[in-house]
Amino acid sequence: MAKRIQFARTGGPEVLEFVEAAPVEPGPGEVTVKNQAVGLNFIDIYFRTGLYPAPGLPSGLGTEGAGTVEAVGEGVEDLAVGDRVAYAQGPLGAYAELHTLPAEKVVTLPDAIDCETAAAAMLKGLTVQYLLRQTYPLQGGETILWHAAAGGVGSIACQWARALGVKLIGTVSSPEKAALAEGNGAWATIDYTREDVVERVRELTGGEMCDVVYDSVGKDTWELSLDCLKKRGLMVSFGNASGPVEGVNLGILNQKGSLYVTRPSLNGYADTRERLESMASDLFAMLESGQVTIDIAQRYPLAEAGKAQEALAGRKTTGSTILIP
Ligand SMILES: NC(=O)c1ccc[n+]([C@@H]2O[C@H](COP(=O)([O-])OP(=O)(O)OC[C@H]3O[C@@H](n4cnc5c(N)ncnc54)[C@H](OP(=O)(O)O)[C@@H]3O)[C@@H](O)[C@H]2O)c1
Repeated sequence: MAKRIQFARTGGPEVLEFVEAAPVEPGPGEVTVKNQAVGLNFIDIYFRTGLYPAPGLPSGLGTEGAGTVEAVGEGVEDLAVGDRVAYAQGPLGAYAELHTLPAEKVVTLPDAIDCETAAAAMLKGLTVQYLLRQTYPLQGGETILWHAAAGGVGSIACQWARALGVKLIGTVSSPEKAALAEGNGAWATIDYTREDVVERVRELTGGEMCDVVYDSVGKDTWELSLDCLKKRGLMVSFGNASGPVEGVNLGILNQKGSLYVTRPSLNGYADTRERLESMASDLFAMLESGQVTIDIAQRYPLAEAGKAQEALAGRKTTGSTILIP
């Protein structure tokens, strides 16, 4: 038997149960990973609340973790028992001591990257990889706006943008978060709970505005984000921390300057083994060179996953959070 978090109905953190379950044997093409650390992500909250439907209930939760291979299924050739690995995709159920998933979603960890760092970096770091290197291939010299710059994804984005020579303006909700984002390389910060974001962006850019806006806050920031773009700029809406963006009239893109918009996801970019490996090697190179370091600002026992999610949803966390089985 192995411990895991599951939920039988959607709702608040109280629906999460810490249970003993028989481990799932790996089928053909699958591996079982013994997690040393599990990554906490906002998307886990969307599944728990039902904003994103789980494939069935009761369901496990979480898609990010790192540890050692415990068992391999038939036909798995690249991985062996005892290998140190990490993953950020696949079926829900990473909030567990043991997680079984397709081997093609699992990458081997370089010696220099420990499991806690990997669990804190995989999903968020691969996301930053595709957002900064693929969705809009930044060359250096651009100015971008990044909401929630002191969060898990945001902390990595600030450092990666600095490494690329990109001016990242980060929004945050407190002076402490502003200091963190600036320490990570944000070129400037704006407190979007107190300041007029559009006016501040205008001042900071001398009226030029931004090449790209990366918006994971969603409902609350959608329209002001469009107002921070240059003509023909790109709006990247990649999350719903305040609720989903709905009912958009496409005409608004015309009115605000012939804008582009995209709504990407990690699964839409790391959609083949080759692409996952290439993105992971880019991320690992950034970690190994020290250009990106991972701030694990919160650690919770796996049993307290609900408490950890409450802190994340309540804007009480900074950097990455991991759960320890
Ligand atoms: N599409 C993708 O591929 C993809 C992949 C990974 C993550 N994401 C998205 O990226 C975002 C960041 O994920 P994360 O796990 O790193 O979380 P996070 O940034 O550590 O936490 C979310 C942050 O959003 C800000 N926020 C603004 N309004 C909020 C509200 N009403 N409720 C809660 N938070 C609010 C808060 O920062 P302030 O206090 O500074 O406002 C909060 O700390 C999430 O929206 C997530 O869904 C998308």
